[in-house]
Amino acid sequence: MPKVQTVFFCQNCGAQSTKWIGRCPSCNEWNTYVEEIITKDSSSSSKKRLLSKNQTKPRLIGDINIDEHKRLDSGSNELNRVLGGGIVPGSLILIGGEPGIGKSTLMLQVALSIKDIVVLYITGEESEQQIKMRSERINAHSKNCYILNETNTQNIFQHIEDLNPGMVIIDSVQTLQTELIESSAGSISQIRECASEFQKYSKLTSTPVFLIGHITKDGNIAGPKILEHMVDTVLQFEGDRNNMYRILRSVKNRFGSTSELGIFEMQSSGLREVSNPSEILLSQRDENHSGIAVSSTIEGLRPLLIEVQSLVSSAAYGNPQRSSTGFDTRRLNMLLAVLEKRCGFRLGAKDVFLNIAGGIRVDDPAIDLAVMASVLSSNEDIAVAMKSCFAAEVGLSGEIRSINRIEQRISEAEKLGFDEIVISKYNAANLNPENYKIKIVALQKIEDLLKYLFG
Ligand code: TYD
Ligand code: MG
Repeated sequence: MPKVQTVFFCQNCGAQSTKWIGRCPSCNEWNTYVEEIITKDSSSSSKKRLLSKNQTKPRLIGDINIDEHKRLDSGSNELNRVLGGGIVPGSLILIGGEPGIGKSTLMLQVALSIKDIVVLYITGEESEQQIKMRSERINAHSKNCYILNETNTQNIFQHIEDLNPGMVIIDSVQTLQTELIESSAGSISQIRECASEFQKYSKLTSTPVFLIGHITKDGNIAGPKILEHMVDTVLQFEGDRNNMYRILRSVKNRFGSTSELGIFEMQSSGLREVSNPSEILLSQRDENHSGIAVSSTIEGLRPLLIEVQSLVSSAAYGNPQRSSTGFDTRRLNMLLAVLEKRCGFRLGAKDVFLNIAGGIRVDDPAIDLAVMASVLSSNEDIAVAMKSCFAAEVGLSGEIRSINRIEQRISEAEKLGFDEIVISKYNAANLNPENYKIKIVALQKIEDLLKYLFG
């Protein structure tokens, strides 16, 4: 007789309790506990079969050969970059994103473009015909891609054993259901159990597994937090649904940097990679407007020229508004305080709105100087020279600080046709200006920026 047991799970963090609690003691959320039935069937399970077949044994670290674990080319340069140079065999990768953002499209494109590997695309959300229609739409064909419409993990593992695929894609983890647990698909305990079955499978067989995951309304991946601990890599697919650009960001990566971005454009025939993002991030303008400054930033390993736009206007109400999109508001407040203290601008009585063009979020401190230049330019209503850009951090005392990888930033600005780049004096000290066609302006203090902008 299977033993039936019920447990209460927090829908927010996955904590367990034997009784219902109003407030979760681990994440402090109210009213998140839900009862789920767990059946522990001890007689047979495909998981056990899978485990017993592959005997593991301890190995000396010196004897472990990583050559046999070469990264696979996913067929998409942007995805390879975000993963840290390709798909690591045996890795479990979770892709989250809002509904309709393009997760299924991205994974189907990968499934159809990856070479010489049998791919199994398991769908619990769409029918085989719908997947086929999507493949016609993106006009991709492959002889090695199998589609399986199934949600029961025991059945899935049976098919996997027969087919022996080199890569597995699951769309989505929330639709999976294992017989070992009796609660409904999408519940905390189901998601956790199914993900852990696939984790074991991917590690034992060195097969990469992609899990597509839904996100909740506050932007987290639906399911227990432990899901993010279980997987090797968490990717977020984001973007404005009204905007055709999509950004693939790595939130966690055991095999690479988390600061890499992949940029795609959603077209009527699928996702196109954007290999030169600076071109799309700089808005096309023929005329010069005040409040716009361009920064040469670096995201991951890639230089990106980004446009900062700001609007400074007199505060209509007593409390001035500060709002920023794509840039940390606290950092904006700090930079405004520096302007007030060092340059005497009365920004305390002004509304300041800041926007990073293209829907990108920037963490690189090198954008500080461009933020300041754009605020000053809007405040004075004097435009910044169209062909100049900025790359420096600003400190609390108004000093313009050096930043890393300055040569790369200068070269990118030069490549995109800028005439002038404003950097810190401390960076310029180590550079030979003769190496560059672009004019390098070196500043030391924020007061120098004023002189540079307004003469
Ligand atoms: P989809 O991959 O189904 O999103 P998700 O799996 O994240 O929910 O993408 C659906 C959206 O993408 C839908 O609004 C239509 C659009 N789309 C295109 O614009 N072009 C295409 O070639 C495809 C396949 C989808
Ligand atoms: Mg989908």
